[in-house]
Amino acid sequence: MSIKAVVGGQWGDEGKGKLVDLIAQEHDICARYNGGANAGHTIVHNGKKYKTNLLPSGVITPSCSNLIGNGVVLDVPKLFEEIDVMKGDGLDVSEKVLVSDRAHLVFGFHKEMDALSEKMLGKNEEIGTTKKGIGPAYGTKISRNGCRAGDLLELEVFEKKYRTLAATLQKQFELSYDFEAELKLFKDVYIPRITPMIIDGVAYMNSAIKQKKNILLEGANAVMLDIDFGTYPFVTSSNPTVGGACTGLGIPPREISEVYAVVKAYCTRVGSGPFPTELHDEVGEKIREIGGEFGTTTGRPRRCGWLDVPAVKYGHMLNGYEYICLTKLDVLDTFDEIKVGVKYIHDGKELPAVSQSLKITSNIKMEYETFPGWKQDISKCRTFEELPINAQKYVLRLEELFEVPIKWVGVGAGRDAIVIRD
Ligand code: GTP
Repeated sequence: MSIKAVVGGQWGDEGKGKLVDLIAQEHDICARYNGGANAGHTIVHNGKKYKTNLLPSGVITPSCSNLIGNGVVLDVPKLFEEIDVMKGDGLDVSEKVLVSDRAHLVFGFHKEMDALSEKMLGKNEEIGTTKKGIGPAYGTKISRNGCRAGDLLELEVFEKKYRTLAATLQKQFELSYDFEAELKLFKDVYIPRITPMIIDGVAYMNSAIKQKKNILLEGANAVMLDIDFGTYPFVTSSNPTVGGACTGLGIPPREISEVYAVVKAYCTRVGSGPFPTELHDEVGEKIREIGGEFGTTTGRPRRCGWLDVPAVKYGHMLNGYEYICLTKLDVLDTFDEIKVGVKYIHDGKELPAVSQSLKITSNIKMEYETFPGWKQDISKCRTFEELPINAQKYVLRLEELFEVPIKWVGVGAGRDAIVIRD
């Protein structure tokens, strides 16, 4: 038996979906522990692209059961939309997806609140959320007036809670929202459909542990977007770090045997907030174009820059990585030289780790190491030795800087486009 967790090591969109899809084949259960439909995984399998926002990435693997944990905020219509799109693509996953009864629900009015809060913050202050209602849904969870998936199993309870929540928010935000229409949709359409999927997630996970199943814990978003440890307030509203896997699924920490980070060979971020290695020139644009760095969910161009080693090391400190999966190395194939940010310098001194202060993080002077490019297509390489020597040197130096072994190197989008090191 083993329980492994996959976390995003930077600012998200590192390609976690690909690693989870790859290793899900060795697991009985894939359990998603945080975030909501704001995360956008892309899995390329047999030349076909599958996009998931809420569904765990294990859905592509026939033998893998998938749980949406209590730490996720669930947009029910969106879940069905994803299941239906997959069915249209010839993949019926509806019987393989379970939902924890403790997962909080995202309603349409949460999305309206999301857009309103961003508008109230104004142009330069906005967080840059995906406006999927994630923050407001976690907000109602914390303020203890949210509705959970389990409530859907008791119609009267759900109706009462929904109306109380609606009345409270209506007063606070003056929402122009048709609550009755949403409630009716839930009663007529969503509740009958979701009922068979709702289970006691805690009992399910812990019984799987007792049965010595192989379990993969899938985190959405990433370390630098963590509500506690990221560049607050420019963060997401949950804990993508590994502690979130325990609280987001209800499992004991000691059961987690290994934590893997997915780290891109360069860096991107969406939304506002500090980004010490950001490139505002044609090099950044080239990374964006070649890497296809546009949001899966929103289509927004991602901010691009060089790899930020102190951010990855900070993630290692918080999560204790066993291995790193370095993705999208192929995106750097045509660059004459590649830089890597290795030290955060502030006021002439090296910062020991990522600071909580936005002022400090926004004014870091980054120290870089420069590597010669390999100027060669690496997409067909399947062993480390097949990689050009400069690409090998780049990976080995990163391993040294991270102080964590790099076990996987992504050389293309497909499941097989990966170098696995022993
Ligand atoms: P979030 O949960 O939103 O942070 O997303 P994610 O980390 O799961 O990222 P996503 O799955 O959207 O992956 C980003 C993109 O990179 C997808 O289009 C993947 O198919 C692609 N991708 C993953 N690994 C590689 C790689 O090694 N090379 C190339 N070229 N593309 C890759």
